[in-house]
Amino acid sequence: MKPALLEVMRMNRICRMVLATCLGSFILVIFYFQIMRRNPFGVDICCRKGSRSPLQELYNPTQLELSNTAVLHQMRRDQVTDTCRANSAMSRKRRVLTPNDLKHLVVDEDHELIYCYVPKVACTNWKRLMMVLTGRGKYSDPMEIPANEAHVSANLKTLNQYSIPEINHRLKSYMKFLFVREPFERLVSAYRNKFTQKYNTSFHKRYGTKIIKRQRKNATQEALRKGDDVKFEEFVAYLIDPHTQREEPFNEHWQTVYSLCHPCHIHYDLVGKYETLEEDSNYVLQLAGVGSYLKFPTYAKSTRTTDEMTTEFFQNISSEHQTQLYEVYKLDFLMFNYSVPSYLKLE
Ligand SMILES: *[C@@H]1O[C@H](CO)[C@@H](O)[C@H](O)[C@H]1NC(C)=O
Ligand SMILES: *[C@@H]1O[C@H](CO)[C@@H](O)[C@H](O)[C@H]1NC(C)=O
Ligand SMILES: *[C@@H]1O[C@H](CO)[C@@H](O)[C@H](O)[C@H]1NC(C)=O
Ligand SMILES: *[C@@H]1O[C@H](CO)[C@@H](O)[C@H](O)[C@H]1NC(C)=O
Repeated sequence: MKPALLEVMRMNRICRMVLATCLGSFILVIFYFQIMRRNPFGVDICCRKGSRSPLQELYNPTQLELSNTAVLHQMRRDQVTDTCRANSAMSRKRRVLTPNDLKHLVVDEDHELIYCYVPKVACTNWKRLMMVLTGRGKYSDPMEIPANEAHVSANLKTLNQYSIPEINHRLKSYMKFLFVREPFERLVSAYRNKFTQKYNTSFHKRYGTKIIKRQRKNATQEALRKGDDVKFEEFVAYLIDPHTQREEPFNEHWQTVYSLCHPCHIHYDLVGKYETLEEDSNYVLQLAGVGSYLKFPTYAKSTRTTDEMTTEFFQNISSEHQTQLYEVYKLDFLMFNYSVPSYLKLE
């Protein structure tokens, strides 16, 4: 521990100690200090294009046109750090991360990237991109990969599959990024996708039946059996019911980003936003040195959940439930700089 501490103290001015992550299956606790790689002399020592790591490109851009973007992303990182600090009691409830907490972190060894996937935030397309990046030539066009194949877990390697030293090494030297979205828009998107469409009954059976049983008075036998007509009001009542999270963690489609990706424990180098999806995604690809031949897929946006749609769904929710729901997602709002929606009637 001592040499690591000394090193951090010595480099304190140019570097930032970002994170002390503890990983432990037993009593095993490993602290790790992430050091941002800034060049202390301000001289550009290298390089052939593509020979620098994404982290170097991000924190020490060689291209002038990228410096404004770098400033924007520094502000986003600061926002996360400040929110974590201000809400440390809430955000650091679990001080120790275990490998099991790293299941959402997809690893690309070839380009030194770690992507934490958040369902309902373009994660299918980003998983497709990660398959192209890690495929060593197997794919060239992300859209040639069928959506269901992108979700087959064996097709991508996640950080929990490595040993603890390997995990620490990758957390330290890879560029870690995630994509976030306005929390209630994401929630309505999850609701619409899982409860208002008939094509896949697994969510109806697994969650719909439970929600109706608990939240609907005088439910019919058919509704209890099928679970396929959950109302948004009932879904919200289920989410704010304290029993729900005591029983088991939320499903990943409506779990908070801070619970899926642990941004107060893992220092994300880049926070991409759904609102600027293509721009932020292509920036990641550019930093990874593949921007010239790989672009984020553009696709039809007609069925996307919008702010207007979200407003409409919330109209039927009582202000008491709105307030409680906001509390559940509050850290995601604060961390990623989403303001309180204007349609909310908070108590
Ligand atoms: C947060 O959002 C506000 C308003 O949308 C914006 O002016 C500000 O620059 C943002 N801050 C960060 C850190 O992104
Ligand atoms: C339905 O969804 C589940 C879970 O997302 C998935 O495992 C299953 O393959 C899907 N079935 C169909 C027919 O799409
Ligand atoms: C449920 O059914 C009972 C008996 O039919 C009725 O008295 C009651 O009003 C119903 N409750 C609701 C919420 O519909
Ligand atoms: C709101 O409630 C009304 C009356 O119960 C219903 O007709 C309408 O579909 C609901 N709207 C939404 C978006 O759930």
